[in-house]
Amino acid sequence: MDRILVTGGTGYIGSHTVVELQQAGYEVVIIDNLSNSNRDVVDGIERITGVRPAFVEGDCTDIGTLRKLFADYPGIKGIINFAASKAVGESVHKPILYYRNNLNTLLNLLDLMEPNGVKGIVFSSSCTVYGEPDENPVTEESPIKKATSPYGNTKQISEEIITDVINSGARFKSVILRYFNPVGAHPSAEIGELPNGVPQNLIPYLTQTAIGIRKELSVFGDDYNTPDGSCIRDYINVVDLAKAHVAAVERMLQDKSEDKIEIFNLGTGNGVSVLQLINVFESATGVKVPHKIVGRRDGDIEKVWADPERANKVLGWKATSSLEDTMRSAWNWQLKLRERGVM
Ligand code: UD1
Repeated sequence: MDRILVTGGTGYIGSHTVVELQQAGYEVVIIDNLSNSNRDVVDGIERITGVRPAFVEGDCTDIGTLRKLFADYPGIKGIINFAASKAVGESVHKPILYYRNNLNTLLNLLDLMEPNGVKGIVFSSSCTVYGEPDENPVTEESPIKKATSPYGNTKQISEEIITDVINSGARFKSVILRYFNPVGAHPSAEIGELPNGVPQNLIPYLTQTAIGIRKELSVFGDDYNTPDGSCIRDYINVVDLAKAHVAAVERMLQDKSEDKIEIFNLGTGNGVSVLQLINVFESATGVKVPHKIVGRRDGDIEKVWADPERANKVLGWKATSSLEDTMRSAWNWQLKLRERGVM
């Protein structure tokens, strides 16, 4: 059983990935500073898989904490790095926090890989690196555009750091995964997305509106150059996304990588507008979402969706969940939060 370190493993994508890793037979060690999650998530993971992952509460920007972790859990073969700050708007106001958290974490991990014999690192990047694409769908070769937020810039810089380190002759590999818009929750409703405060992202705002926590959902703009005027994204089921990480880890540990750095888009290949998504949610769940059209949100991209062919062919991974099932999973998770008295 290979041991994998999952940083940020109690977060939204991290927790779903821990479940898939355990179900694929890996032993998982989580490190998380609980800045945007809580330790109950470890219980949720255990309820799904029957196995409690090792959990270290700590901050990856502190190299001493990581050194101790590698000493306490010897033989870590792979790292999946989810530990990062991720709110686009907040990053504009707190750039130092974003650069420090996201870049120091990565540098510390890269620094400790060789001395600890770690064979590979999977890095969570984002479609935000493509900015407003000239053409859709975007392939991994589509041009990287100047980042419009410190958050987006940390993703671009991180990709460059990994490239430089690997090209310097490092004895490990990396898989960079560019996520499109992860949504939904585990079908068990034991884990899901739990944003602090007022959600900034569409789906948590939508489900909180559907359940009555928020009065109405604001649709940011209906005057874009799209068929219905609202923005288009590629919404990818979080469990499908999590499975891609298992495939990426296997590739590196089993020496199947074609290059020391491989980059994959993780999306469905389907562009869906905000208004279409509201419709899909309503028809899948039978629950109405009060909404109104408001002005555009600063910094929003008009349309972006993935060409996932490389991930499909090379990684052997494909998004398989329907958007209806994904919307039902998001709704069931929201219902579960109410049942538990969380919100
Ligand atoms: C953005 C980034 C993504 C980043 C994510 C983290 C891009 C293309 N994507 O995703 O890399 O990881 O933030 O937060 O830059 N919307 C509404 N009403 C709402 C909320 C959202 O209409 O209350 C709309 C937005 O205008 C957008 C869509 O829903 O068209 C999705 O928004 P959101 O969930 O915030 O994700 P992105 O902005 O696409």
